[in-house]
Amino acid sequence: MKRAQQKEIIELIQSEPTGASVSISGWVKAFRSNRFIALNDGSTIKNIQCVVDFENFEEELLRKVSVGAAIQVEGSLVESQGQGQNVEIQVSKIEVLGEANPEEIKLTILSPKRHTLEKLREEAHLRVRTNTFGAVMRLRSKLAFAVHEYFQKNGFYYMHAPLITGSDAEGAGEMFRVTTLDAKNPPLNEEGDVDFQQDFFGKETNLTVSGQLEAETYAMGLGKVYTFGPTFRAENSNTSRHLAEFWMIEPEMAFYDLDDNMDLAEDFIKYVIRFALDHCQDDLEFLEGRLIQEEKGKPQAERSEMTLREKLHFVADNEFKRISYTEAIDILRNSKPNKKKKFKFPIDQWGADLQSEHERFLVEKHFKCPVILFDYPAEIKSFYMRLNDDEKTVRAMDVLFPGIGEIVGGSQREERYDVLKQKMKTMDIPEEELYWYLDLRKYGTCVHSGFGLGFERLVLFVTGMGNIRDVIPYPRTPGNAEF
Ligand code: 4AD
Ligand code: MG
Repeated sequence: MKRAQQKEIIELIQSEPTGASVSISGWVKAFRSNRFIALNDGSTIKNIQCVVDFENFEEELLRKVSVGAAIQVEGSLVESQGQGQNVEIQVSKIEVLGEANPEEIKLTILSPKRHTLEKLREEAHLRVRTNTFGAVMRLRSKLAFAVHEYFQKNGFYYMHAPLITGSDAEGAGEMFRVTTLDAKNPPLNEEGDVDFQQDFFGKETNLTVSGQLEAETYAMGLGKVYTFGPTFRAENSNTSRHLAEFWMIEPEMAFYDLDDNMDLAEDFIKYVIRFALDHCQDDLEFLEGRLIQEEKGKPQAERSEMTLREKLHFVADNEFKRISYTEAIDILRNSKPNKKKKFKFPIDQWGADLQSEHERFLVEKHFKCPVILFDYPAEIKSFYMRLNDDEKTVRAMDVLFPGIGEIVGGSQREERYDVLKQKMKTMDIPEEELYWYLDLRKYGTCVHSGFGLGFERLVLFVTGMGNIRDVIPYPRTPGNAEF
């Protein structure tokens, strides 16, 4: 007899019911009436129905075919009698690869009933087997591919920035220290401070908060580069938008000014969103339905006007609104919530740092589309941003998204040696640590720009999930590094 071909469900559900002999492995999602096994192998959100004539199988074997078990089935691919599927497998052979005790499964999130997202987080090692997390993580993978595809197609080189660094790229002091010194009994220097000269690297080191500064050095040789890797921030913000470990995409381009930078950010975001719409239809359809279900519990006024895919199309097909920080402040100052003191941080003067409530007002209420804000006050932004001629503002830009707030932060970089040196001095950025960064301004300096996009915030937007902890496999947040 011809050997059955091992297949994946994503392939099978698209094939014709030829009666061909196939073999498939997966996890049991449901087993109804001792006859219908819904099997899923993770290749797609869809299950394949496996039809068993129980008369032909040992009871003992069928008892082991329970929710959560890993099995392999062989059979012929036939036209499905059930609805919503083309084909099903008429099973001739079942092998149980890994049992799952029903009494124990009942106590986990694998039990077939609704579990809260909080509960799923507690069992993050199992949650990828749920429909929601399968969909989110497949999308995450596709989006990562789209990111690389976009940059590779557009002449960028992928640069691996170091994860352990001796500098603070954002100058915000939110770093995790990397050390091999004995925490209980560190060596001390003559002044009585911890002697980092005796540490592994012979100096103080930390996990990177951004690969930007190193990416700039590579843009000065390769022209256009991008990083895509993990970054770490020890900021104590326990919000649904912040992680202590997140993945950031940071393109950096020689000879790009801020307008070129904004054009690139907009084009890039639209590309990856379109990619998801084109390549992840089943998962998006599922997540859209999930969202509709979730919103039924909300008052009408709080429900979104668009479905998930309508929202994605809207962003991909419409121009982002670009306004300066100064214009944004005017809008905010005269806005209803500001006048009625509804903002937690009222806007009374130019120079105020924008909070997420302000960003979301601009995007969700005022413009009702993604917004790019540019030319921020120098004082609320990082040291490396190019000073404008007004000497008050810098060539910074943030891309703000509905439901998310800031998704991208970027700028044109200060390329003038003297101006940068002075800026570092006033902002207390240690020159001896960043001599190499200053060197770039001495040897063939040029106008250049770049930005950082928080990958999880993008995945949040595309999947319609509400909490950033649910779009990364193992979230790291203050007080939590389980798994
Ligand atoms: O605005 P940020 O801090 O900018 C930078 O790090 C620059 N060095 C980027 C550059 O110009 N190359 O961070 C960039 C983006 C934010 O817009 C946000 O999307 C994301 O990174 N981000 C976070 N995402 C999750 N958790 C956090 N704690 C984040 N902090 C920033
Ligand atoms: Mg920012």
